[in-house]
Amino acid sequence: LAGVASRAESPLIRELAERCRPPEGVAEEILAAIDESAPLHVRDGGVIRAGYSSELDTLRDVAHGGREWIARIESEERERTGIKSLKVGYNSVFGYYIEVSKANTALVPDHYIRKQTTTNAERYITPELKEHEATVLGAQERAVALEQELFAQVRGAVAARAQELLGVARAVAELDALASLAETAHANRWVCPEVDDSDEILVQAGRHPVVEKSLGMGAFVPNDVKVDTRDDCLLIITGPNMAGKSTYLRQTALIVLLAQAGSFVPADRAKIGVVDRIFTRIGARDELASARSTFMVEMTETANILNNATSRSLVLLDEIGRGTSTYDGLSIAWAVAEFLAKARIKTLFATHYHHLNQLASQLPGVRNYRVAVREEADRIIWLHRIMPGGTDRSYGIQVARLAGLPEEVVARAQEVLRDLEEDESGAGILPRRAPAPAQVRQLTLFEAAPSPVVEKLKKMDISTMTPVEALTALWQLQKEAEKE
Ligand SMILES: Nc1ncnc2c1ncn2[C@@H]1O[C@H](COP(=O)(O)OP(=O)(O)OP(=O)(O)O)[C@@H](O)[C@H]1O
Ligand SMILES: [Mg+2]
Repeated sequence: LAGVASRAESPLIRELAERCRPPEGVAEEILAAIDESAPLHVRDGGVIRAGYSSELDTLRDVAHGGREWIARIESEERERTGIKSLKVGYNSVFGYYIEVSKANTALVPDHYIRKQTTTNAERYITPELKEHEATVLGAQERAVALEQELFAQVRGAVAARAQELLGVARAVAELDALASLAETAHANRWVCPEVDDSDEILVQAGRHPVVEKSLGMGAFVPNDVKVDTRDDCLLIITGPNMAGKSTYLRQTALIVLLAQAGSFVPADRAKIGVVDRIFTRIGARDELASARSTFMVEMTETANILNNATSRSLVLLDEIGRGTSTYDGLSIAWAVAEFLAKARIKTLFATHYHHLNQLASQLPGVRNYRVAVREEADRIIWLHRIMPGGTDRSYGIQVARLAGLPEEVVARAQEVLRDLEEDESGAGILPRRAPAPAQVRQLTLFEAAPSPVVEKLKKMDISTMTPVEALTALWQLQKEAEKE
C-alpha cells in the first residue's frame, strides 16, 4: 500500500504513504511466532509456531510421543497376555487404563490393578502406565504454559510499538477514505470544485448523489444554483409537491459539504465560497419523548438558525411554518425570510406559501425560483427543473388525488379552495359554502316529492293518441319541466 501510494502525484497521498510504513520488525516477529491456524484461545495450545522455541518443540515431542507410546503399549500387552481385544484408553477420572472385555478377564496378569467395571469390560491400571502418564501430561501442561508465556512476550513486544501501529492505522484509514471518494467521483462523473474565499456558491448542473443513484443513471434532472450575499441572497423556491424542492436544497448542502471536505462534487462545475456553517431546517418530526411538538421542534431549530447564522453561513429552510395554522405559518415564514435577506445570509427557502414571492419586489437580494411542471388536462407532469420566477398555484389537490384520496374528498377540496381564493379579504379561513349534505343523490332517488310533470306523464293514454297529439303533449311537458 505504501509503495502504491508513494508513486501518487498528490503530496497529501505521498505523505500518507510515508505514514503507512509499518514499524520495522513487528510483522516479522508476529509471523515468526504465531501459527497461521492458531486457535481462538491461547489455553488450547497450538498458538506458537513450530521452530520458534526449541524448548517448546521438545515438550511437544514428548507430549506427542505419548500417543505413539500408547499404541506401542497396546500391542505389547496384547502379545504378552494373548488378549486380542485389549485396548488402552483415557478418561478424566483416573487417566490412562487398559480395558479387557469380560470374556477375557481370566487372562489378565496379576500386576494389573482393577479400577472400574463396565457392562462389557473391566478397566485396569499398571504402574508403568501411570509413570508414563505423568510424563506425557506434564509435558502437555508445560507446553501450554510455555506457549502462554511466549505469547505474552510477543504481545508485549507489539504493544510497545502501539503508538507507531496506531499511526499507521490512521494513515491507512485516511487513504481508505480518500480512495473511496476518488472511486465514487470517478464512477459517477463528479468534478473537482473550485473552493475559494468568495461569498458565492455557483453550481452548474448539480445533482443529488443519492437520489440520482436510486433513480438510475440519466433519470435525474440536474439543476444550477447561484447564491451569494448580494443580488442572489435569498432564493424563494416554490413548486408543487413532489417537484423536487427538498431535493434541490439537500443537493446544494451536499455539494458544499463535499467540496469543503476536499471531495469532488456531483455537478458539471462548481465554485464554492467557503461557508462557516450549513444550517438546515428540514422535515417535520415529533419529539414527543422530550415533550416538544412538531411545531415546537421546527421553531426551536429556526430560532437557533436566526440566532447563530452569519453572512458566511448557508441556510436551508424547507417549508417552515408548516406546523401551525396557515396565517401564523405564513406570517412567521415571511418574517424569517425578511430577517435573513436583510442580514445578507445565503438562504435557500423552499415553501408552499407563494405569497412569499412578493418579497422579491420589496427587498433587494431576494429571487424567486419555481420548479417547473407541465399541466396536461387534469394531470401534471413533473419536470424537476428549477426556473426563475414565482408560482401562483400549489397543485396540492392534484397530488392528493394521485395519492388515492377518495374522489368525493378531492372534489370537495377543490370547492373549498375556490371559496378561499375568492375570499380576497382574508377575513376568515373557513369555507363560505356549506358542505353538500352527505349522500344527497341516493336520498332524492327515493324520497323526492312527486313532480306534476311526472304525474301528468303517468296519466297519459298513449294508445288513444295520434302521433301529432303525442308530439304536442311531449312538447308541453318539456316546457313545464323547464319551469320546475
Ligand atoms: N432533479 C430531479 N430529477 C429527477 N427526479 C427528481 C428530481 N428532484 C426530485 N425528484 C424526484 O421527486 C421526488 C420528490 O422530490 P422532493 O421531495 O424534493 O419534492 P418536494 O418539492 O420537496 O415535495 P413536497 O412539496 O411534497 O415536499 C424525489 O423523491 C425524486 O424521486
Ligand atoms: Mg419537500
